Amino acid sequence: MQHPELKRWLQEADPTRLDALWRHADDVRRLHVGDAVHLRGLIELSNYCGRLCGYCGLRADNRDVPRYRMSHTEIVACARRAATLGFGTVVLQAGEDAALTREWVAELIRRIKTETNVAITLSLGERDTADLANWRAAGADRYLLRFETSDRSLFDRIHPPRNGQPSDRIARLHTLRELSYEVGSGVMIGIPGQSFDSLARDVKLFRDLNLDMIGVGPYIAHPATPLGRTNAPPAQPADEQVPNTAEMTCKVMALARIVCPAANIPSTTALATIGGADGQFLALQRGANVIMPNLTPRQYRLSYQIYPDKACFYDQSEENVSRLGTRLHNIGRQIGTGRGDSPNWQQRTTPSPSPAGRRCS
Ligand code: 5AD
Repeated sequence: MQHPELKRWLQEADPTRLDALWRHADDVRRLHVGDAVHLRGLIELSNYCGRLCGYCGLRADNRDVPRYRMSHTEIVACARRAATLGFGTVVLQAGEDAALTREWVAELIRRIKTETNVAITLSLGERDTADLANWRAAGADRYLLRFETSDRSLFDRIHPPRNGQPSDRIARLHTLRELSYEVGSGVMIGIPGQSFDSLARDVKLFRDLNLDMIGVGPYIAHPATPLGRTNAPPAQPADEQVPNTAEMTCKVMALARIVCPAANIPSTTALATIGGADGQFLALQRGANVIMPNLTPRQYRLSYQIYPDKACFYDQSEENVSRLGTRLHNIGRQIGTGRGDSPNWQQRTTPSPSPAGRRCS
C-alpha cells in the first residue's frame, strides 16, 4: 500500500468501506499470527524521568507526581506473579531514570531470567549502544521505543534535546535491530500538529523498519504538560489535523497489520482509556493480537501518570485474567501460551533458504 492509499484510508469516513478495512486487517491477522492473544505483564518500575517531553506527565519538571523506583526484589516478585498467571512476557517500563544504570538493569534481567521463564521486553527510553548491548547479553529479548512521529519538525518541537543532543530514535531502532532484539516502535495518534500526510508516512515507516512489534495509541492531553496545557493556535488547517479518536487509532492499527502482517500489535492502554474495554476488544478484531495487563503494584500505579485516568481492566488477579479468557473465547480467540515471539522476528533470525527472510509486504 502506497502513500496516497494510506492517506485515503486515514481520511475514510464511510462506515461500509471502513468495515471492509477492519475485515481485511482481521483476515491478515488470523492468517499471519493466528487467534492467540498474547498477554504481556506491564511493570512500570520507575517514574523518575530526566526528559521534558511536551506531552508526558512524567516529564522532569512535573512536581505534582510523587516519584518512585521499585527495588529488584519488588520487580522480581511482579515477574513471578506474571509467570504464575501464565503470561509469557514481562515488559519493564520506566522513564529515563539515571539511577537505572547499566549494571542495575543487567542484574535485574539476570535475576528475572534465573527465577522465571518469561521473555523480557525493555521499554526504558533512549539509552546508549553499550547499555543496549549489555542488556541483550544479560538476557533481554525485546525493546520498545516509539518514534512517536516521523515528522522531524513536529518530533523536535515535542522532544527537547538532552545535554544539547537532539534525539534520533530511528537510529536507536537500527541499533536494536543490529543487536538482534525483537524491535518494537509506534506512534501517538492525534498529536497537535500531526497531519494525515505525516501519519501516512508513519505507517510507511513501520514497513520500512520491518518492525516486530507496533504499539499505537491516541494522544491524551495531560494538564501538567506544555502540550496539554496550551490552547496554542493550531499548527495547521483543521482539516489536516489528525483527531485523537478511538476510530483513528483503530485505522492505524488495521493499516499497521496490513503493512506488517507478522508483527505483534497490542491493543493499547491509551486506546482502552478513551474507548473503554469495548474499544480495546474492537481493536483485537481490527488487527491487534496482544494485551498488556498492568502488573505494577497498586501503591505505585496511580503515580505512573503519563496521561490522566489510565485504564486498567485486566490486572493481576486470577479472576480478571479468567474474565479476560472468557471474553476472548466469546470472540473466537484464546489467551496465547508460551512467549509469543513475533513471527516476523523468528523468520528474520531463523536461518532460511531465502537469505532476506520474509519481510513486511
Ligand atoms: N498521551 C498518550 N500517550 C502518551 N505517551 C506518553 N505520554 C502520552 C500522552 N499524553 C506514550 C508515548 C510513549 C509511551 C510510553 O507512552 O507514546 O512512547
